[in-house]
Amino acid sequence: MNKRWVILMIFGCLAITLTACSGSSSVVVEEKEVATSPSEDDQGQTVAQEINAAGIFAERCANCHGADRSGSRGPALLPERLDKDQAVYAATITNGSGSMPAWGSRLSAEEINALVEFILSPPQ
Ligand code: HEC
Repeated sequence: MNKRWVILMIFGCLAITLTACSGSSSVVVEEKEVATSPSEDDQGQTVAQEINAAGIFAERCANCHGADRSGSRGPALLPERLDKDQAVYAATITNGSGSMPAWGSRLSAEEINALVEFILSPPQ
């Protein structure tokens, strides 16, 4: 006799829980539908503009190359010193060299190219 009540109560609780769940998930779905996704064109432009080479340099490279790029543990990264092809520097940043760490797994190719352009431009 007691078993029947227990089973009834379990079903009762389940019913309440399921109703509560389906009720709240429908709210979430409504919220998601409100959010608009940007068009592909907009996204492409945003990605290109978002690379902040000076910021990446300050965060990841300045320790060894100096905040003003005049060098410390690593050589100076200033246009008057860098006379090789851009691809050479992109390869050094990607693969590392000596005690220079490899960044290929941590930075995208776009970020590395932006860094090469940054170090080949005169400091601001
Ligand atoms: C742990 C210290 C360290 C960090 C961090 C570091 N570098 Fe270097 N880097 C070096 C050293 C040391 C060399 C010289 C390597 C050699 O002689 O083979 C070097 C060499 C280079 C060169 C080649 C310079 C030349 O004259 O050929 C470039 C370009 C360069 N680093 C860019 C960067 C960039 C960009 C970052 C940040 C993403 C960075 N490095 C982070 C230590 C570092």
